[in-house]
Amino acid sequence: AEQENPPRAVWSFSGPFGMFDRAQLQRGFQVYKDVCAACHGLNQMSFRNLSQPGGPEFPADQVAQIAADWIHKVREIGDDGQPAERAPRPADRIPGPFANVKAAEAAHNGKAPPDLSLMAKARSYERGFPWFLVDIFTMYQEHGTDYLKAFLTGYEANHEVMAGLHYNKYFPGNAVAMPNILQDGLVTYSDGSPATARQYAADVTAFLMWTAEPHLEQRKRIGFQVLLFLLVMSILLYFTKKRVWSSLE
Ligand code: HEM
Repeated sequence: AEQENPPRAVWSFSGPFGMFDRAQLQRGFQVYKDVCAACHGLNQMSFRNLSQPGGPEFPADQVAQIAADWIHKVREIGDDGQPAERAPRPADRIPGPFANVKAAEAAHNGKAPPDLSLMAKARSYERGFPWFLVDIFTMYQEHGTDYLKAFLTGYEANHEVMAGLHYNKYFPGNAVAMPNILQDGLVTYSDGSPATARQYAADVTAFLMWTAEPHLEQRKRIGFQVLLFLLVMSILLYFTKKRVWSSLE
């Protein structure tokens, strides 16, 4: 079978003015921490980034606590030259469970759980002609997040796959080493959002969009300011031109 194209989802961060939903990023981090972090690292992000503007914006003291309580340790070389472990600080990258790819592969049938930092941008799907052209004009850029959300809820039973693999209708090739993780009720939200697999998938995907593009909000804000500046500048230049050349008309 061929993988299906994921359905289009609605994202708060799509379009020229789309911004992250702060509460969703916080829920998404909770899903990552409570569920995904058991297998996946987030090595391009430091804990301190969780409190920086444009992201989940957890208070700094909460971030220090999150780092100190993290389920994985920072692996480093100790003062005696031997491998050592210690609890992370806010300045540390968010460590995953495995010391190296060999160990990760050994734990998952030869398929290492990839680092999730850039996943929302690293994955996509083929829409084919003419859609890839249409997408440029409609500014559809959420192929990666649409895929991630669908992938996380795309598992189906009753399909023949190799032992140790799982059938997922959106994963290229359909047989994936990651099991169906997200179940209703798995994570308890404190803001009253539905405790469903669909909600977890959307929230953790939004969070992973932020880790893949932490300056998205700043980029869009500055882009808008630049366009506004150019517009005002063009108007002024037009009248300047009129005035400078007025004696010749
Ligand atoms: C692969 C996300 C939890 C094990 C992946 C991929 C993503 C992902 C996006 C890459 C899929 C692709 O290549 O297109 C997540 C998220 C999780 C989660 C968001 C939490 C909600 C877990 C857990 C485990 C796990 C708990 C371990 C029990 C794996 C493995 C792969 C994988 C082994 C490699 C699959 C392959 O290449 O066949 N995950 N994951 N994941 N994940 Fe997860």
